[in-house]
Amino acid sequence: MKILITGKNGQLAQELHKRKPANIELVALDRNDLDITNATQVTQAIAEHKPEVVINAAAYTAVDKAESEKEQAYAVNATGPENLAAACKEFGIRLIHVSTDFVFDGQSSTPYQPQQPVRPLGVYGESKAAGEAAVQSLLPEAVILRTAWVYSAHGANFTNTMLRLMNERDQLGVVADQIGTPTSTHTLAEAIYTLIEKPQAKGTYHCTDAGAASWYDFAVAIYEEGKEAGLLPAEKQVQIKPIATADYPTPAARPAYSVLDKTSLVAEVGIELKHWRQALRQVLKEKAAP
Ligand SMILES: NC(=O)c1ccc[n+]([C@@H]2O[C@H](COP(=O)([O-])OP(=O)(O)OC[C@H]3O[C@@H](n4cnc5c(N)ncnc54)[C@H](OP(=O)(O)O)[C@@H]3O)[C@@H](O)[C@H]2O)c1
Repeated sequence: MKILITGKNGQLAQELHKRKPANIELVALDRNDLDITNATQVTQAIAEHKPEVVINAAAYTAVDKAESEKEQAYAVNATGPENLAAACKEFGIRLIHVSTDFVFDGQSSTPYQPQQPVRPLGVYGESKAAGEAAVQSLLPEAVILRTAWVYSAHGANFTNTMLRLMNERDQLGVVADQIGTPTSTHTLAEAIYTLIEKPQAKGTYHCTDAGAASWYDFAVAIYEEGKEAGLLPAEKQVQIKPIATADYPTPAARPAYSVLDKTSLVAEVGIELKHWRQALRQVLKEKAAP
């Protein structure tokens, strides 16, 4: 089976490349080969490579910067998926589009269901919600896979930022009143390859690791598991303090609670999800001894 992946250099695309099953031929294109904001380029790339499935792993993911770069965020996160859905529709190709927990407002106190109404708080979430809506209306048989708090061994993410800061500092304040679920790109990539084998799966699914945490909980776990993996010196002591969102103002508002309900993914697609801390341990071990 031939699969085309957009956003080749991103965290998820790199993991999809690393975990490619033997029966799959991957064509991964970066922004220079395929700029998803350009409808002509999208149609040409799909006509040239003739994949059976397109995975959209490209996105504008700079949540705070999006507040001042609205046009760019919408071009990549809304027009991009719209272009891909239109081309997939024209050529009869399956589309798996990746989206975010930031489409929700965070007012819930129980996990968000895939069909719950979206109400994003910032430009990034709004632009991703617009991308979802475009895909849904052009290609209802597409899969929209929402995920959250994504990290991998390499790349710009919370885990790697924390490890760097913990090596540099003796004290850190981390937000303790935003709750979500850290998600390893391992989990996401495996879910996507399982979805590919289930052609009947369509519509919106949620995919994160299991459990819930605050950014503070996540940071403490990175500290403990980072030491265990040898990514932080054994003698290094870092005091991690829980702080409030109000004490760490950012340009974009973030949902206070964005745990996603994965029941349909587990039941319909047959995916097993491990606890986020177990996934973190695995990723940090891999980072320490690649
Ligand atoms: N990261 C998270 O915490 C998180 C949370 C929830 C959902 N998600 C979703 O998960 C998916 C994957 O995220 P990720 O963390 O792997 O993102 P990432 O590491 O930021 O990668 C995104 C990739 O998209 C590329 N890109 C940007 N504009 C493009 C364009 N016009 N055409 C083609 N490629 C373009 C970027 O290229 P450049 O490097 O050249 O900019 C980058 O390589 C995204 O849909 C994201 O919204 C992520």
